[in-house]
Amino acid sequence: MIPIAKPYLTQEDAQAAYDTILTGWITQGPRVAEFEENFAKYTGAKYAVAVSNCTTGLHLAMIVAGIKDGDEVICPSMSYIATANSIKYVGAKPVFAEINPETYNLDIHDVKKRITPRTKAILLVHQIGMPADISVFRALCDEHQLILIEDAACAIGCSYQGKKIGSHSDLVCFSFHPRKVISTGDGGMVTTNNEAFYNRMKLLRQHGMSINDRVRHSSSKIMFEDHVEVGYNYRMTDIQAAVGIKQLAKLDWIIEERRKVAKRYENELGDIPFIRLPRARRLLHQLAILFHLSKTGMSGEAE
Ligand SMILES: Cc1ncc(COP(=O)(O)O)c(C=O)c1O
Repeated sequence: MIPIAKPYLTQEDAQAAYDTILTGWITQGPRVAEFEENFAKYTGAKYAVAVSNCTTGLHLAMIVAGIKDGDEVICPSMSYIATANSIKYVGAKPVFAEINPETYNLDIHDVKKRITPRTKAILLVHQIGMPADISVFRALCDEHQLILIEDAACAIGCSYQGKKIGSHSDLVCFSFHPRKVISTGDGGMVTTNNEAFYNRMKLLRQHGMSINDRVRHSSSKIMFEDHVEVGYNYRMTDIQAAVGIKQLAKLDWIIEERRKVAKRYENELGDIPFIRLPRARRLLHQLAILFHLSKTGMSGEAE
């Protein structure tokens, strides 16, 4: 029996959850704040907002980006359903574009054909952890005044142009589902360099409450909160965040272990003529980028 994926969870991760339970503070609190800080540092983003999963993170990203009823958002025709659902949540229309069969990522030429006066954003998925060519999509978005949102559910730890995924755009959403590179059971994170987005997402993830629980409970005075807009309960728990802190600390090791597994698949399956292995994609992606660069003068690279 070969599992489709197996999280790298250790005794240390279990101990962190155990210790957090015994502190008595189990929902969003100090461990979540610490996880966010470490995550922002790892990715190089200014801010990180922990959420209950990547889908809720994508939903918040759509809201703060101002996507609404009647808007169109271009996304890949091949992705997990949560990508398109997050667009539907705000009443907008997912417009499916083709992917490049070599990289599995959005095909820029097909995306261009699908831009209409209603297009408001491009939701770029880093398919199965393969970074998409962000700078060419950034340029296209700038040309048409579109918002670029990244669905990086599978892409924690990947780099593009020498910087970690999470640091290039204002809304990048990650997943910690057990099939992803690191796991907190379920969980998600949105990174941003935009302070207004950061503050609004923090508000929306906990019922639109003007004062968070941690501040209220540590105050010596009674504090009354306002609910300034319709929010959601998209909180991560401190139990999950405690596991996330430990998982993030060993992310680079986990990636190395996963590379070893990939190498084994390459060695064992590489000579079977009717199987096309993803190993070629990295090289082909780089070649495709070089070809694009020679035409546009832009620079791109993915790891
Ligand atoms: C590309 C993509 N986006 C979004 C999601 C949703 O992530 P989550 O399960 O954390 O909501 C997934 C999960 O499989 C995914 O692969």
